[in-house]
Amino acid sequence: MNKGQELLKKAKKLIPGGNQLLSKRSELFLPGLWPTYYKKAKGCKVWDLNNKMYYDFAGMGVTSCVLGYSNKDVNKSLINGLKTGSMCTLNATEEVDLAKELLNIHKWAGMAKFCKSGGEACMVAIRIARAYSNKNNIAFCGYHGWHDWYLATNMNNKKNLDKQLLPGLKTKGVSNSFKNSIKPFMYNDIKTLKKIFKKKNNDVGIIIMEPMRGAKPSHNFLKQVKYIAKKNKAILIFDEITSGFKDNYGGLHLKLKVSPDIAIFGKSIGNGYPISAIIGKKKIMQVAQETFISSTMWTDRLGFIAANTTLKKLKKSNINKMISNYGNKIKNGWKKSAKKNDIKIGISGQDAIPYLRFDYPNSLEILTYFTQEMLKKGFLAGAQVATSYAYNDKVINKYLKEVDNVFGKINNCLINGKFPLKGQIKHSTFKRLNR
Ligand SMILES: Cc1ncc(COP(=O)(O)O)c(C=O)c1O
Repeated sequence: MNKGQELLKKAKKLIPGGNQLLSKRSELFLPGLWPTYYKKAKGCKVWDLNNKMYYDFAGMGVTSCVLGYSNKDVNKSLINGLKTGSMCTLNATEEVDLAKELLNIHKWAGMAKFCKSGGEACMVAIRIARAYSNKNNIAFCGYHGWHDWYLATNMNNKKNLDKQLLPGLKTKGVSNSFKNSIKPFMYNDIKTLKKIFKKKNNDVGIIIMEPMRGAKPSHNFLKQVKYIAKKNKAILIFDEITSGFKDNYGGLHLKLKVSPDIAIFGKSIGNGYPISAIIGKKKIMQVAQETFISSTMWTDRLGFIAANTTLKKLKKSNINKMISNYGNKIKNGWKKSAKKNDIKIGISGQDAIPYLRFDYPNSLEILTYFTQEMLKKGFLAGAQVATSYAYNDKVINKYLKEVDNVFGKINNCLINGKFPLKGQIKHSTFKRLNR
């Protein structure tokens, strides 16, 4: 009996959809068979409710645990924070330390604000940028959280988010007042952004995008975006919630050599503890004082402590270089095994977050089979890997050996025209990762 699936059945009666995050849904990996819940997570190992141990090659906490699960240095600093009070009438000094470090890394920025989740940080950045630019509309590319401003994209055309996130997203519950204010453009296709600004009275004061996700920026793309933002007096926001502090220490934009007006961080800065950050040019960030942005739980001390310890460790041990090398090793391993086993794959993503695609019409079926067979061998595995300090060459070699075996089985299934799945085909995931 799969105890995780049993619990999921009960959860679905109590919680809409069974949990709080789409990306952790069982249906996105292996419907009816995914372990779904964990008892313990340490390093890159995860124990499910049946006490079975797996190596996590399926995203390490949705790309947030860059140091690995339950890291001992982060734990130690948090235990000290708990003992000395995680909440108080007065403020935590660690907030100032974190602002100092983020601004020290990103010299173009002059001020920082903090909150807890990624989507929330995007909302804060949008409010500040709108207040500063005094314009209503937003041009965007990619995913930036669940809030009204983002989902409203589908109000004038219900296919607008198909290529940015997922097909079929409904706008039920979103205020009509956002209609026509959100304009999507495509990554590496500057014409789609130019078209937005060409329209008379476009009133676009914000461009928000990830500096990179699936594909690398083509020649000059980011510079052209920055030029368009400047020319039209729009605020350029780089959403680095997933891309930041992975391939390099700081925002990926430092490596790509294009700076924005505002950058947003989340996930890895706290190694999975709730903390997110918005940094920006001083004159822009100061406008936060002219609007109302404020929350009790944003002052919680533990998030700041987790972030300060994580950043210190990343910097001291040059961990970002190490994990991007791990990512390259995985990309090369996939490539080699695909060639050997004669299967067609695509590889994308920044170095530390490699992404695998099966280039066949039944790609979802093949990916489901891949996950099913890898799970049998003790690996949580899907299309996306997020590398971690908790990995080492030995565990990556072990993973690549199993990948090689499963790619061999996939080749056989392709020849036979049949994939022996024990359950249903997985649901399709975020489109933005495919490119
Ligand atoms: C680029 C980007 N923006 C925003 C978000 C939303 O962050 P959160 O899930 O912490 O609200 C994510 C999460 O995957 C993301 O990758």
